[in-house]
Amino acid sequence: MATGYGMSEPAALRDFWNKPTLAEAREMILPRGTDWDERTAWVIPQILTPFIEKHLPLRATAVEIGCGIGRLMRAVKPRCAFVVGLDISEAMIGFARQEIAGCVGMEVLLCDGFGFPMPPEMADLVYSVICFQHIPTREMILRYLSESFRVLKHGGLIRVQTHMGEPHRNGFGGMHGYFYRSLDDFAAEFASCGFEIVEAERRDEIYLWCSGLKK
Ligand SMILES: C[S@@+](CC[C@H](N)C(=O)[O-])C[C@H]1O[C@@H](n2cnc3c(N)ncnc32)[C@H](O)[C@@H]1O
Repeated sequence: MATGYGMSEPAALRDFWNKPTLAEAREMILPRGTDWDERTAWVIPQILTPFIEKHLPLRATAVEIGCGIGRLMRAVKPRCAFVVGLDISEAMIGFARQEIAGCVGMEVLLCDGFGFPMPPEMADLVYSVICFQHIPTREMILRYLSESFRVLKHGGLIRVQTHMGEPHRNGFGGMHGYFYRSLDDFAAEFASCGFEIVEAERRDEIYLWCSGLKK
């Protein structure tokens, strides 16, 4: 396992992710992202919606950790009754609010790097895509997994992606997260927070996906 090179204070994380314009926020989410919807569109049909269809009840409540401007929330919403996005950046939350304005059953909330501002046992699914690879410490990752366990109903599921390997100082524009050296190391974190592992896979060499069940 390897420590990230990014700043670890929530205030510093906020500063890093806060961008003044929507165009800059999109560039942060997916650099050189003129075709950004297309470049990661595969995540939704290949990884998120089959999982939702296979495992979740109709009219599920989903929570996204690190929702950015709400790109994946909008894609997941047709399969869910309610989708809540959490993000550490006020600017991302502000842009997401604009993007989802007028959409029924969608909400975004600021989170502080510690807890999730929501009651226990309210969600059927917690998911996160291209966020954990930027979370700088193992402690914060474990807090987020524990908080996910708290907000999930019994029978609820978590599905999270991160990046595997050695952090490199200039990676991710300097906001390199805490990396895991193996799929087993990553899956062990879910188990340590109470989840039963449902699926764990490594894709395209560097991406780790782990799904867990709260029994
Ligand atoms: C690369 S973007 C991905 C956004 C969204 N998941 C998507 O795929 O469109 C990463 C997002 O995670 C948020 N983020 C980074 N570190 C975070 C943390 N420790 N807690 C919550 N959100 C975080 C950033 O503000 C940013 O909006």
